[in-house]
Amino acid sequence: MAHTDSFILSTLNNGIQKVVLNKPARKNALSIPMYKELTILLNKSAKDDEVLIFALTANGDFFSSGNDIGAVMEMELTPTTMENANLTLKDFIDAIIMYPKLLIAVVNGPAIGIASTILGIFDIVYASDKAYFQTPFSSLGLVAEGCSTYTFPRLLGLSKAGDMLYLGYKMNAQEAMKYGLVSKVYNHDSLEEVWDYLNNISKLSSESILATKQLVSKWNREILLKVNAEEIKELKKRFESPDVIERFINFLSRKNKL
Ligand code: COA
Repeated sequence: MAHTDSFILSTLNNGIQKVVLNKPARKNALSIPMYKELTILLNKSAKDDEVLIFALTANGDFFSSGNDIGAVMEMELTPTTMENANLTLKDFIDAIIMYPKLLIAVVNGPAIGIASTILGIFDIVYASDKAYFQTPFSSLGLVAEGCSTYTFPRLLGLSKAGDMLYLGYKMNAQEAMKYGLVSKVYNHDSLEEVWDYLNNISKLSSESILATKQLVSKWNREILLKVNAEEIKELKKRFESPDVIERFINFLSRKNKL
């Protein structure tokens, strides 16, 4: 499989579709076209019999800095463009929720905003010891998404989830492993070993893995789709507030960098 667009690279080897965020100069911030591209990849991959694992990782020192704030500010912010942007985000999260194969993240560096929240709906997360996880929604005037309003309290407990979702607590990789958000933390220089580990999947029964995934995801799917719809509805309201625009401008002029 060839690469798609230059900000997202996709290759398929040994049943593993490796999808690499490739916008390191902006810390792999996710723009609307990138969400669209990822959604297309997920939906195609879901139907591709050759794929057993969709593994998301990134180039550069960050996994992703979350929503591309600059790209939002470059958009013409009309009700229609905002509605379309929200729909794009909703479709992306829905595609993750519905993905029938294994969805794995190899978090090579910090994961901020949506890059953190979506990890709660992945099947397995591996992380570099240089990774951290942060959801600074309140400093940007936004609202938690990626189903984290449902998954984080269940994964982390109400108190730690609250510290993250309300106050932007920065969680390091070891702590994320302690809470079960991450399965294993790799020394950064050895992170590539994860691919050798994943390649062992060819010795396992894909039918068994897919049947188990179906059983694990079955009970939560409907709830997660509803949670996503609610979060996106609230996000739309937040974007109607001048508070968000002001905070985005502050970020771009570096007044509220994390
Ligand atoms: N959206 C748009 N651009 C972003 C970005 C984002 N989420 N995150 C980083 N960038 C850009 C920066 O504006 C900068 O661009 P420039 O070189 O044109 O000035 C470039 O990426 C490098 O980032 P910089 O801030 O210089 O690197 P840093 O290592 O000092 O800090 C971060 C990295 C991620 C901690 C910091 O950029 C940050 O706080 N980003 C915002 C993250 C955020 O709030 N995401 C949630 C969105 S919902």
